[in-house]
Amino acid sequence: MAERRNLPKIVSIVKYHNDGRLTAPAAARNAKPIIQLVRKTVTKPGNALEIASGTGQHIVKLASALPFLNWQPSDVDITRLNSIKSWSNDQNLKNLRPPCILDATEEGWSKKHRDQDLILLVNLLHLISIKETKILIKEISKALAPKGLSIIYGPFMRNGKLISKGDMEFHYSLINADLNLGYKNDIDILNLFNEAGLVHLNTEQMPANNLAFISKKP
Ligand SMILES: C[S@@+](CC[C@H](N)C(=O)[O-])C[C@H]1O[C@@H](n2cnc3c(N)ncnc32)[C@H](O)[C@@H]1O
Repeated sequence: MAERRNLPKIVSIVKYHNDGRLTAPAAARNAKPIIQLVRKTVTKPGNALEIASGTGQHIVKLASALPFLNWQPSDVDITRLNSIKSWSNDQNLKNLRPPCILDATEEGWSKKHRDQDLILLVNLLHLISIKETKILIKEISKALAPKGLSIIYGPFMRNGKLISKGDMEFHYSLINADLNLGYKNDIDILNLFNEAGLVHLNTEQMPANNLAFISKKP
């Protein structure tokens, strides 16, 4: 199980609601571009696993916007899993499975999640170490079906550089909390895809300086 970390408050600005739902302003802001990206990337029916689903705001919108995919939400945190359940209860979406617990940094999780046609991960890599990132990408590769796609979205360095004042502040607030955290370098991510046997298809520039890496299992 991933070590529980004391992350700076900015990482997890969430509002708690009486019915167990959580809302995060960041998740509301980036939902639309993420849905557009998934829609243009994935065109065939299949199984989609979301790692680190968080509040559940994204997955209910994704399942509604892309009904040809069977969505499996997951997270490592029980409060988040309850929030995902509460968001799902409202919607009655036939293609949305109940959330499951998944520590994406634990070696071997792919054994329980084989044959995925899509694996989506939004905003986790800056919150884990490079060693854990390596495990995560290796497990994604093992969990994907042949020709399966992965989309990894978040804030990243470009060629070792932080590209704005806001990115520098966020990165150093993470490093101050734990030296192993912080933005990963785009080039390191491409190397990890290669090591894991994934083919990098494209890097999309997303709003607020984020990147989305799209890769494919041969
Ligand atoms: C910044 S939030 C992003 C949530 C969601 N993807 C979004 O963009 O709104 C990070 C999420 O990662 C989850 N998380 C942290 N460590 C994890 C791990 N080792 N495995 C799976 N999820 C993890 C947290 O519980 C939290 O829900």
